[in-house]
Amino acid sequence: MILEIITVPNPILTTKTQPVAKITPDVLKLAQDMIETCKQAQGIGLAAPQIGKSIRLCVVNLEHMGIPLFALINPKIKKKSWKKSEMEEGCLSIPGIYGIVRRPDKIKVGALNLKGQENELSADGLLARVIQHEVDHLDGILITSKLVRRTDGTETKDRKKLKD
Ligand code: NI
Repeated sequence: MILEIITVPNPILTTKTQPVAKITPDVLKLAQDMIETCKQAQGIGLAAPQIGKSIRLCVVNLEHMGIPLFALINPKIKKKSWKKSEMEEGCLSIPGIYGIVRRPDKIKVGALNLKGQENELSADGLLARVIQHEVDHLDGILITSKLVRRTDGTETKDRKKLKD
């Protein structure tokens, strides 16, 4: 089922989410709906607050890079590289706004998968960036609060990097 994507200003987007206590059939259905919604919106990631649920769940869609679509439950960034880089980002919840965001290049993230297994993932490049963008959403943080400068979205479009 395709869900409606919430856009700014809506207080749920700037509210820290609650951890998922138990992976119930409802949580699994929500994750599946978020995956469908993310694909349909041509996003590279989607976090639960963006579809109106204030819980610690997000999905990542980098299929164009050969990474199967996956969900992160209760993700926690455990390590961040000192080295940072700047890249243009957009957000499905902030239509028409693009800008440069500075983030660590590499991260290590721990999360539960949909089977309830604890996983640890080391990520760099676009994967590291999307995960950080989504975890920010789960903490109620939007790119508009951390833009180095506004841009016109051309870098994002050129690189086929879509919005999250
Ligand atoms: Ni976003």
